Amino acid sequence: MQQFRERNIVILTGAGISAESGLDTFRDPDGIWARYDYRRVATPEGFAENPALVHEFYNMRRRETAARAPNAAHLALARLEREWPGGFLLVTQNIDSLHEKAGSSRLRHMHGTLDGALCAGCGARFAQDGDMGTDTVCPSCMQAGQVRPDVVWFGEMPYFMEEIFDALSSADLFISIGTSGTVYPAAGFVREAREAGAWTVELNLEASGGFFDSVIEGRATETVPDFVDRLLARPRG
Ligand code: NAD
Ligand code: APR
Repeated sequence: MQQFRERNIVILTGAGISAESGLDTFRDPDGIWARYDYRRVATPEGFAENPALVHEFYNMRRRETAARAPNAAHLALARLEREWPGGFLLVTQNIDSLHEKAGSSRLRHMHGTLDGALCAGCGARFAQDGDMGTDTVCPSCMQAGQVRPDVVWFGEMPYFMEEIFDALSSADLFISIGTSGTVYPAAGFVREAREAGAWTVELNLEASGGFFDSVIEGRATETVPDFVDRLLARPRG
């Protein structure tokens, strides 16, 4: 494995890491965007046109996710966070809570989370673990009809971008797991890391075509635990 200063690791995960926990990805042949028009359920315009449809879409995903458990890949990343002596940041595009359930804490959801709600009226953000609808009342402004899932939609700015780009600028190792690398700005993180001098590696079912120093193909539950074992077994310094 490429020698690098054992200091800072930045990891990006996508839907592929949750696939073996039973959650659909987006762009695999039977993925979510093969069954739903992303413009109707994952854009501000879609929410304005038919909020009930958008709530139904995310309520269904929230119920599906609540029934799922983290897999060996999620657990391996939580172990790496606990045992890694240097800097560590896990960035996920996923809105499920499987990284948290696995024990990850130095974690940023750049596309938001299914168990978060946002009031488009007053801007309040609050936890919402049950179904959400057009009748959901904002606990801050007490208005209904303005509450939406706190999920970043197409055309919207992701969360934590300044913190993420700051971490990438001092990364020594960038690991991309289970993402097709088709949605920016996440798709550009590998370039940011390379420009910072990081060693970049992709662990994916098949190579996404991104410019990585190394690509390890396979299922995340096989490739990620093995990669973490080898990383932690290496001599320090
Ligand atoms: P983008 O240009 O970054 O991505 C557009 C994506 O839409 C493409 O990657 C493509 O995979 C997908 N797409 C295009 N046509 C599609 C179709 N017919 N079916 C399914 N997928 C299709 O998106 P943007 O509009 O420039 O917005 C980028 C911003 O939106 C970023 O900030 C990103 O973080 C955010 N975002 C959020 C979500 C979400 O659902 N949470 C999804 C994508 C992007
Ligand atoms: N192990 C590893 N990788 C896998 C597995 C698996 N078991 N199953 C699928 N993959 C890979 C696929 O090969 C694909 O490259 O995971 C990737 C999933 O890609 P997408 O479905 O495009 O999901 P993602 O990259 O997370 O999408 C990015 O787009 O629609 C938006 O907000 C949505 O956050 C999402 C963003």
